[in-house]
Amino acid sequence: RPRVLSGIQPTADSFHLGNYLGAVRNWVAMQETHDTFYCVVDLHAITMGHDPALLRQRTRLSAAQLLAAGLDPERCTLFVQSHVPEHPQLSWVMSCITGFGEASRMTQFKDKSAKQGTDRASVGLFTYPILQAADILLYQADAVPVGEDQRQHLELTRDLAQRFNTLFGKTFTVPSAFIVRDTAKITDLQEPTAKMSKSASSPAGIIELLEDPARSAKKIRSAVTDTGREIIFDPAAKPGVSNLLTIYSALTGRPIDDLVGAYDGKGYGDLKKDLAEVVVEFVRPVQERTRAYLDDPAQLDKLLAIGAEKARAVAVETLRAAYDKVGFLAPA
Ligand code: TYM
Repeated sequence: RPRVLSGIQPTADSFHLGNYLGAVRNWVAMQETHDTFYCVVDLHAITMGHDPALLRQRTRLSAAQLLAAGLDPERCTLFVQSHVPEHPQLSWVMSCITGFGEASRMTQFKDKSAKQGTDRASVGLFTYPILQAADILLYQADAVPVGEDQRQHLELTRDLAQRFNTLFGKTFTVPSAFIVRDTAKITDLQEPTAKMSKSASSPAGIIELLEDPARSAKKIRSAVTDTGREIIFDPAAKPGVSNLLTIYSALTGRPIDDLVGAYDGKGYGDLKKDLAEVVVEFVRPVQERTRAYLDDPAQLDKLLAIGAEKARAVAVETLRAAYDKVGFLAPA
């Protein structure tokens, strides 16, 4: 079976619908066809400043949501990044073959450091994509299911894998980004040309999996739609309506063309009202299952410990091979 690795940051109290539709949904599906490793990336979550108690809580919350969304610890390896020390160890080695200019060109770094003020942005934020490359390469992943915003980080990962292999001999699988076009960029409900994001200026534009479903319904009903009144799928001309159709189609499995046909002659209000119901139906059971996992934190921690052990078995082997290729003297 081809190998998969992906990760998600525990930087919010809830994942949003963009995380779910762009990434997590595919993680769930790939359990059937791939050998899957999924990681709550807490090391990445401290690059912008954080609260320690909140981080610990959000790490459990993240794991609980992933399980509630359909990850099955019998079929995938779910773990917490900091439980596997090989991640930062390999990251150091990869940082030594990454160009300063190359890292400076990462658009997420440029955006995030500009927001924080370049002087205040941490070195960790700068090296963040190198740690991400290490996450992936440690597991010899063939495919990395992510949203569109991670494409550049995946390109860097491929470049670093190839560079290492060329410099020191074949060590890493060169991974491919697995990006499902239709749902690769779910947009903000209030600003439908921007991606739905945890750091959005207003909570009105994002649907959080764990928020009160009535609130989600209200956000859908007050989503910004476009001029005109026709319900057609045209992301360039009608980004608002097209985003709603994308979400609707992804959550119900109904093709977009079918939806467009079904809403022929109806108004934006009808579409929003129906989609609000679809979203509520979707999040309710996810919330119930998340709560059930959180009710038993000891059991949750045990699942994560088992995941870390399985992940480590693979990571240790890859790190050992990389250390050897680089020329580190093996401890006697
Ligand atoms: P993060 O935590 O920001 O997001 C998790 C996943 O959700 C996707 N995503 C979206 N997809 C569609 N539409 C959106 N509006 C949207 N917003 C977020 C992201 O693309 C991502 O797949 N750097 C990564 C975490 C990471 C990682 C890794 C990923 C660390 N190591 C190794 C893959 C492999 C990140 O910040 O994702």
